[in-house]
Amino acid sequence: MEKVKLGIVGLGRLGREHAANINYNIINAELAAVCSAVPEEVESVMKEMNPGYGTTDYMEMFNDKNLDGIVIASNSAFHCKMICDAANAGVKNIYCEKPLGMTLEEIDLIKETVEKNNMNIFQIGYNRRFDQALMSMKEKIDAGFIGKPILIKLVNRDPEWNREALLKFSPTSGGLVFDMLTHDYDVARWLIGSDAETLYGIGGAYGYEGLAELNDIDNCIISIGFENGVMGYMETSRNATYGYHVEYEVFGTEGSLRLGTTPNKDRVVSMNRNGVTTECVKSFFEFWLPTFEAELQDFVDCIQNGKQPKAGLEDAYKAVQWAFAAKEAVDKRTVVSMK
Ligand code: NAI
Repeated sequence: MEKVKLGIVGLGRLGREHAANINYNIINAELAAVCSAVPEEVESVMKEMNPGYGTTDYMEMFNDKNLDGIVIASNSAFHCKMICDAANAGVKNIYCEKPLGMTLEEIDLIKETVEKNNMNIFQIGYNRRFDQALMSMKEKIDAGFIGKPILIKLVNRDPEWNREALLKFSPTSGGLVFDMLTHDYDVARWLIGSDAETLYGIGGAYGYEGLAELNDIDNCIISIGFENGVMGYMETSRNATYGYHVEYEVFGTEGSLRLGTTPNKDRVVSMNRNGVTTECVKSFFEFWLPTFEAELQDFVDCIQNGKQPKAGLEDAYKAVQWAFAAKEAVDKRTVVSMK
């Protein structure tokens, strides 16, 4: 079977990982073209992975009819322009990193443009849907293992940030409620199989001087009333001094499903004169690493077999809608109706 030829735009922190997965790990894919606005990044990937060609002009790739699909791993602020440029140039298969866009106007424009151009596959980078444990939770919920779901709890804590780095990152990221919770909006609606009817939020800037002045916060709690009656809450933080920490629980009429009650790095328990310790997971990359390969493998399989992705345009769109409603809820400390 012919390999699926992919071009990738964005070779930064995540794009390079995606390029490496395509090149080394996904056997039915070929890294045919790479692009970055930074020439040194292109040169470095060309040297290490030897793809078909490298460019700093993404339109060269979007106009290349030999490519079967495009992976977009640029900064979020460029997703809208790149998706629309690709769709209008006739690209039929796109994988794009989350979030879909930075404003409600952007996601409307993307939806309209993707639909107008009859795209085959549009996949969004909600990689947590490819985590083995979360997939197992989803299967058990759907099979009725916990009876009727009553509530979902999601905990998401980033390791403590360098203050200067956070103040630099904040204005372009959309802030804590928009950026950091984006995966949780998706996981919540995927696991429960329903959308939010109402969202309520509370939060503040507790740990980083200067963050509040940027209209951002570092901790919040959001409660969710789902359309199907399930209750939910999310708590998120940028202040976990001990490392990266996620937890999920879905509690139902017949039992409970839980993931990650303590963020252990591995199964080793160390004991010496200082006591008993376990090492902690240090970053999101370490925790979710296998999912980055799995989601791109699925993108390639979708192109090859004509199936639809697990997280598509509608999921991408809904998560951004949740983000804006949650932001309004936290900013105004009020209940926001999604209807
Ligand atoms: P980064 O800043 O490290 O890299 C961005 C890349 O985009 C660079 O190679 C840059 O040259 C390229 N780029 C920007 N504008 C361009 C243009 N006009 N033409 C060509 N290349 C251009 O960013 P990072 O951290 O890799 O994030 C990329 C995306 O991945 C973001 O949307 C982010 O939200 C998402 N992300 C997703 C994660 C997940 O867990 N799924 C985790 C981290 C990031």
